[in-house]
Amino acid sequence: MADNALMRMLEESQAALEERLGGFRPEVALVLGSGLGPLAERIEDVVAVPFAEVPHMKASTASSHVGRFVAGMLGGKRVLCMQGRLHGYEGNTAQEVAYPIWLMSRFGAATLITTNAAGAVNEGYAVGDFCIMADHINFTGRNPVAGAEPDGIANRFFSMYEAYDPALRAMGMQIGRELGLPVHEGVYLGLLGPSFETAAEIRAFRGWGADTVAMSVCEEVIAARHVGMRVLGMSLVTNMACGVEGADPDDEEVLEVASQREADFCRLIQELLARL
Ligand code: HPA
Repeated sequence: MADNALMRMLEESQAALEERLGGFRPEVALVLGSGLGPLAERIEDVVAVPFAEVPHMKASTASSHVGRFVAGMLGGKRVLCMQGRLHGYEGNTAQEVAYPIWLMSRFGAATLITTNAAGAVNEGYAVGDFCIMADHINFTGRNPVAGAEPDGIANRFFSMYEAYDPALRAMGMQIGRELGLPVHEGVYLGLLGPSFETAAEIRAFRGWGADTVAMSVCEEVIAARHVGMRVLGMSLVTNMACGVEGADPDDEEVLEVASQREADFCRLIQELLARL
């Protein structure tokens, strides 16, 4: 076991959270993005622990992100859920954003399902559609594994080939078809934010092959792959990205659409969990 500060912090966080969770061993780690937190209300036998009560965890400052761990049963699986996440745009380092992912993996969660609200770069998508991440373009300019210490957790030179598990993606698409929901599979581009993109940026991103864009996920997924978790990423398209069909997105629209599509989002995630 490597002797480094990050490792010691994770051990302390784990010990404190373990005490609160009372021996709970999650199968799945679930991150609920902007406006998608209400899914946590459906978790049964809940133990909830605010991020701020876990040593070394940063608190969530984003409105609409409750900022707590919720442990319990959902879709027949033991899940450890982040009701709200940490973002780079809140001033967190990439490592701070990734920290809870490493922490959840230490509880035995072998699968990460991470969700967010995103803008559609792809003109064929519509507001209210879902998009399973086929791959990502990390345009945050940051990587949580950069730095001396994450090498003590696992090898830093790991592959990001098929980082988003092909079998989980296929399962998500299948469930979408069965439930009659508009679910795409596309490339997600993540940025630091917090300003929305310019129309010129969105045009450039389309040329790179991006289908959706938002301000989260990439750093979490890199951390999850670093420790060998299987990953599924899913966005709710809350808006067309800047300039697409003349769109001029704002955060109110994002939260409004998320609340309108909450029921279908919950159905998708619960069914996914049931089939894992
Ligand atoms: N851009 C960036 N982040 C977002 C968007 C967007 O259009 N929609 C939701 N989150």
